[in-house]
Amino acid sequence: MLVLEIEDIKTLISKIGYKEFYLELIKTMEEDYSAWESFDKCPRVANHVDGGVIELMPISNDTLYSFKYVNGHPKNPTQHKMTVMATGQLSLTKTGEPLMFTEMTLLTALRTAANSAMAAKYLAKKDSRILTLIGTGAQSEFQYLAFSYIFDLKEVRYYDTDPKAMEKFATNMSQYNILLTPCKDAYEATQGADIVTTCTADKRYQTVLTKDMIQKDVFINALGGDCPGKTELQKELVEESTVVVEFLEQAKIEGEIQQLSSSFTCTEIYEIIRGEKQLNVATHGTIIFDSVGFALEDYSVLRLIYNLAQKNNIGKEMNLIPKLNDVKNLFSLL
Ligand SMILES: NC(=O)c1ccc[n+]([C@@H]2O[C@H](COP(=O)([O-])OP(=O)(O)OC[C@H]3O[C@@H](n4cnc5c(N)ncnc54)[C@H](O)[C@@H]3O)[C@@H](O)[C@H]2O)c1
Repeated sequence: MLVLEIEDIKTLISKIGYKEFYLELIKTMEEDYSAWESFDKCPRVANHVDGGVIELMPISNDTLYSFKYVNGHPKNPTQHKMTVMATGQLSLTKTGEPLMFTEMTLLTALRTAANSAMAAKYLAKKDSRILTLIGTGAQSEFQYLAFSYIFDLKEVRYYDTDPKAMEKFATNMSQYNILLTPCKDAYEATQGADIVTTCTADKRYQTVLTKDMIQKDVFINALGGDCPGKTELQKELVEESTVVVEFLEQAKIEGEIQQLSSSFTCTEIYEIIRGEKQLNVATHGTIIFDSVGFALEDYSVLRLIYNLAQKNNIGKEMNLIPKLNDVKNLFSLL
């Protein structure tokens, strides 16, 4: 079984290049989203614990099965631990044979950013120039990079309640040729924005973005509200915008739309990718991509990484599954 560590992901991406990797990942997700009906889908299994959540995210089609283990503990940084940590596995559907086990904390940030940029490619104005990031924690730089490969960005406006997170973001971003505008609050950060990403972590009903902050039609990529009782957008803002989700059944439990009636319905992103529905901020006004993170995105990044790791001879084969001459003689291993 192939095992990939953090160093392996780093080696792979430096070999391939960020841009090529993100573009390849977006293409892989588009392929998988386009094959929507071929997947056996379910909302993730969530264990709600004091101050956080621990989730299992399974999905499969006829060829491959994948799952991700991921947590969300917004207070973890006070104990010098990350809010989001993940591992994942890819298996063959026909036999159930595990193919790969991998780190997925980095892969989650990469796939989340690719998913955001993929949605924005269809839903945001083509000439979007100003990106706002509210929440400059672990996900933030990944978000910027993915958007920068789709749009000709000129400015990033940003705000976080933690000044140290803003300093960290500015330091990491100084290598890129982009105007950086630190802001004193979310209101200032959203002024003039074409795209607003909210990626805050707080397990409560927050109103990071309110209706009065949005002064022109904008693409809102809301990804931090991803759990029951954890939202980022004011209810009226959600009600008055066009909403697109990944998987309606899961978004109703975990997304911004948990604030709306249980009979609420909206477009799922696969319909946009397949061209069955066409929505864009230029023609439909403010659009919210109410992203909570769906298992299909993990499936896409796992199958891409597995192929790339094999092609580039990266990772370690580890003895995690027995290899036996007589497959009924498991006892022979001891
Ligand atoms: N939708 C998805 O697919 C997906 C994927 C990964 C992470 N997430 C979610 O995204 C969020 C961010 O993840 P992360 O790994 O960057 O976490 P993180 O803890 O590293 O960063 C979150 C940042 O939000 C800031 N923050 C909290 N409340 C704020 C507010 N009201 N205004 C401005 N800033 C605020 C915190 O100070 C922190 O710096 C989490 O809620 C996580 O669960 C979603």
